[in-house]
Order: sequence, then C-alpha cells, then structure tokens
Amino acid sequence: MSTPQFIQIYQHNAAAVAQELVQGLSAPHAYTSPKYLYDALGSRLFEAITELPEYDLTRTEAQLMHLHSADMVQHLPTGACWIDLGAGNCEKAGRLLGPMQAARYVAVDISVDFVRQALDTLQRQHPDLPMVGLGADFSNGLDLPDALELDPAQPRVLFYPGSSIGNFTPDRALGFLQSLHRACGAAIGSGLLIGVDLLKDPDELAAAYDDALGVTAAFNLNLLLHINRLLDSDFSVHDWHHLSLFNAKASRVEMHLQARHELTVQWPGGERQFAEGETIHTENACKWTVPNFEALLHSAGFASTRVWTDPAQRFAVLWAQA
Ligand code: AVJ
Repeated sequence: MSTPQFIQIYQHNAAAVAQELVQGLSAPHAYTSPKYLYDALGSRLFEAITELPEYDLTRTEAQLMHLHSADMVQHLPTGACWIDLGAGNCEKAGRLLGPMQAARYVAVDISVDFVRQALDTLQRQHPDLPMVGLGADFSNGLDLPDALELDPAQPRVLFYPGSSIGNFTPDRALGFLQSLHRACGAAIGSGLLIGVDLLKDPDELAAAYDDALGVTAAFNLNLLLHINRLLDSDFSVHDWHHLSLFNAKASRVEMHLQARHELTVQWPGGERQFAEGETIHTENACKWTVPNFEALLHSAGFASTRVWTDPAQRFAVLWAQA
C-alpha cells in the first residue's frame, strides 16, 4: 500500500497579495483576480453552483467523460502519470484513474491542504497507485518542480477539466497552454485532456451566471468578505450588486460587482472612491468554439486533437497530444 506524498511549493505572501489587490482596486476600471473568489465559503458556493439547473457545465462534462471513457482509453496513453490541475476534491480524475490504468497521480492545487483528505480517501480506493499532492500556484504557467522526480520516460496526461481555461483571455490562454505543452515532457504519447465550455445562446449564458436562487450572486459578493480579510478593507456587501453580462465581442461572460450608490472603500494606507453604478470586474469566462480552441491548441504546440462533444455542442472535452 502506497501513502500519498505532500509537497508545498507555493508560499502565501500576505504583503504581495495585498499589493496585488490594491493595484487592481486602484485601476481606472477596478478589477480583481478570479482566484480570490475561492476562499473556504467561495469554494462551497461554487460547488453549489454546479448543482443549479441553470449551470449545466459541470454535469455535461461529467456525462461526456462517462460516455466516452472507452474511447478515451483508445486515444490516451496507459501507464501514464496523471497531473491534475486544480484537483480540489480529486473526484473528476478519481473516476478516470482506474479505467485509464494510470501509473501515478499528481494532484496540484494552490494548497496541499485542499487535497490532503481527498488523496487519503482516493489512496484507499487505489492502494498501489503512487500519489502526490502538490501545493503550487500555476495561474501564471505550470512549472513542475524537481521534487516530483518525474520519470522522463513515463508518458504524462495533464488533466485540466471544468473549463477553468475560460478564466484566461485568449492571449493569456495561449501562454498558459504553452507552459502545459512544455510540462508534457519528452515521453511519447503525452498530452493534455481539457474541458472547454462552448459558445451558446447568450440568454442561456446569462442565466448560468445569474441564477434564480442567487447562488452566483452570493459567490461573487463573497469576494468582498474575502478581500476584507486579505486587505483589512471595509467593503460592505450591502453596497454592492452582482452583475453578469455577455460580452459578445470578446465571446465571454463577465462578472462584475456594481456599486449601488457612491461610496468609498478604505484599507490601511489607501482608499478608493466608487461612483454609483461603477463596477469591479471580478471574472471572465471565455466561451470558445471547437475550431477556435483547436487552433489555439495547435498554436501552443500541440499536435493532433481528438474532440468529444454533446449533440447540442454545449461543452467539449479535447485530447491534445503533445
Ligand atoms: C470554475 C471558472 C469554470 O467560469 O463557469 C461559475 C466559475 N463563475 N459561476 C466558470 C464560475 C461563476 C467557473 N469556472
């Protein structure tokens, strides 16, 4: 029986986080990184979002993975090292490790604490599969540390589900995918298994990010509570309104927080005034077409791609060989 190994690379730096937040909040069009949506409560609210009738992204992806797992075994390498990017509860990869005959599992998340329990549970289901929890921030590109002791001869499957790639603008998505291509290494058969939400009816997209129960609104507004803790600022949730809109030109859903009236937010050493109706841009969710996303993968250095999609083309799972 193997026991999971845990490596924490990313070190939280409170001063750097505060500086990054102040920079965004002080910009002419205030913005924050979507990674701050995921504190403990934010992560739970996101899980609740995936249960909403309006938000079928996660369910459609799970169906595709389930429906096409036999075909995936045909195209993906067996005996591979699976590297799960943003592993969280490790459930999505956990369902594939057996059928895909994985030889090693690396669960990457910003904090190993997020994957510790999930890996311990998964290890009991796969007693002989070597597992590693890696605490790393890959939002600016993936750099696999030597401490992982990856076997250069073992094929790698980089697993990036959930359409998290949509958080990147196309030019940043390209740079990110290039870093994933490098991380595939030199072994034959390596590649990237990625889930991408597709461009669809704008009204449906709007509803998916502004649900009737108000869970997405809570998810967005909770960011203010998280920022207050990180920055010691004095945001009041009552002053702000959840706004989601479809930006057709940029093919993306945008989430904003909109000031209900003129107000000033203060933090140690600074402040920012907001006019009534002014917004903080909190997230982009870019929506791709299959041909555009395949072209992006090719620009990033990936070779052939295999695509699985649902009949209504709402979501796509792509296997891109390095
Ligand atoms: C986790 C980034 C894929 O963009 O759909 C859900 C996050 N934001 N509802 C998405 C999210 C608002 C989600 N991703």
